[in-house]
Amino acid sequence: MKSLARSGKRKTPQHPIDILLQDHEKGMHQLSMLEQAAESIRVNGFSPEAFEQIAAIIRWMNTEVRKHTEIEERLVFPLVESHMKSLAEQVKGEHRDLWDAFSDLLTAVKEVEEGRLHGTSIRNVVSIAEMIVDLMRTHIRREDTILYPAIRQLLTNNQRQALLEAINKAS
Ligand SMILES: [Fe+2]
Ligand SMILES: [Fe+2]
Repeated sequence: MKSLARSGKRKTPQHPIDILLQDHEKGMHQLSMLEQAAESIRVNGFSPEAFEQIAAIIRWMNTEVRKHTEIEERLVFPLVESHMKSLAEQVKGEHRDLWDAFSDLLTAVKEVEEGRLHGTSIRNVVSIAEMIVDLMRTHIRREDTILYPAIRQLLTNNQRQALLEAINKAS
């Protein structure tokens, strides 16, 4: 995920975990916007503005969140899998749940856009969006408070440097 650091607004992190933490920080902000848009439709009914907000967040998920989870699964989790197998399995399972919910959200949004099953589809968009907010917040907190601190402890200097270079290259 392209972080603020690389757009020049912040100092580029020298620790690979700090790059991922910046992605999470941005993610939490996007999730608040998704929550607000879903809440607005649930309380006030459909509006093009709230729906466009959801569509914008879908684009962010499909590009930046996808890149972030790919980096974690390809470059980060394998470094710690042998030390903490069940935690690694749990966070990977959460990624799968997230992408399943995302694919349901795309279907529901498409139904609204195509004007099919209007009321039901809009309710689906709202409830799936709320589920994604819950899933992602729980997942980000687990990585921030348990997984990432453990990775910081486990990484050797060489692994840290190699991971930093690999993440910068992938971003
Ligand atoms: Fe993750
Ligand atoms: Fe993450």
